[in-house]
Amino acid sequence: QRPALVDGFGRKVTYLRVSVTDRCDLRCVYCMAERMTFLPKAEVLSLEELDQVSTAFIEMGVKKLRLTGGEPLVRKGFLELVAGLARHLKTGALDELTLTTNGTHLAQYAADLAALGVRRVNVSLDTLDADLFGRLTRGGRLDQVLEGIEAAQAAGLAVKINTVALASDNAAELPSLIQWAHGRDMAITLIETMPLGETGEDRTDQFLSLQAVRRELESYWTLTELDMTTGGPARYVRVEETGGRLGLITPLTHNFCESCNRVRLTCTGTLHTCLGREDASDLRAVMRGGASSDELKAAIRLAIDGKPQGHDFHIERGSAPALARHMSTTGG
Ligand code: GTP
Ligand code: 5AD
Ligand code: SF4
Repeated sequence: QRPALVDGFGRKVTYLRVSVTDRCDLRCVYCMAERMTFLPKAEVLSLEELDQVSTAFIEMGVKKLRLTGGEPLVRKGFLELVAGLARHLKTGALDELTLTTNGTHLAQYAADLAALGVRRVNVSLDTLDADLFGRLTRGGRLDQVLEGIEAAQAAGLAVKINTVALASDNAAELPSLIQWAHGRDMAITLIETMPLGETGEDRTDQFLSLQAVRRELESYWTLTELDMTTGGPARYVRVEETGGRLGLITPLTHNFCESCNRVRLTCTGTLHTCLGREDASDLRAVMRGGASSDELKAAIRLAIDGKPQGHDFHIERGSAPALARHMSTTGG
């Protein structure tokens, strides 16, 4: 008998990503379609259900909990949810409670989040050019995000920037984005775009290999491999010239499934044990069926037992996305 959260390949699951809403105030071109149909409220887990299911995972060994979306800060009652879950930080059951946000509402929430025990946030930002930002997010305002980042830092939160590398859009700007982040004491992680959900754009034109980006950066910077992890999927290097940390998330050019420690819960309570596979367990049905805490844990255990070995993402011109579901429902 394996301990509670070890999968069939011996990988320990210690990281849960929870999408608290499929909604978002932006429509990033690699994430969503221009017109999205959002879920009716009844399908989305209530704050109580989100707490209940997260708590079950924590009691089973999850140490790192990330709230995502969609945009987590547009979920009504989000601070209440954080306040409740923060009890697990106090008991030491949970090491880290954090969120990934687009930053547009961060100025309003940063101080409260910090007061509740959040130590760091990841902010998605693909460009510092206001026009390009507007185009990539289909209508977003860069100044709101920059204000959000400033407020977060002022509140004492460590900020990490997430940048999806896009051949068609921000490729040339990546070095200056890295310099900008490092100059403000922020780590930055570049991400290869992944084929999840129809966006109305061809990902073949967007995809940029981070192996190629790395080679280019190395033509003028010294990158030193760092032997560290945040428990996430990035591999980190230090840029000697800026003194800052750069992460690379390379699901397409360098698969990292072997060391995967995470599972994700959609805002409708579906557990996906792999971002790139169809495997799904309906934990909402279990909860709404009146299951006891032990029965919920048994359902989680069963799902973890079946966690697939890994994904096999590839991006081909004209081909449909590997998965129909969008990143925003799945929890990035
Ligand atoms: P840190 O705790 O700061 O390391 O954050 P993180 O990288 O774990 O989380 P974040 O929300 O910042 O996610 C960054 C990107 O990594 C998102 O685009 C995720 O979809 C992607 N990502 C996270 N886990 C996986 C995974 O298991 N497989 C793949 N392919 N991508 C992942
Ligand atoms: N491929 C890669 N990253 C994506 N994100 C959203 N959609 C995609 C995609 N198709 C990123 C966001 C955010 C993180 C949670 O996921 O930019 O930083
Ligand atoms: Fe919203 Fe994040 Fe998707 Fe952009 S990537 S549309 S900010 S959920």
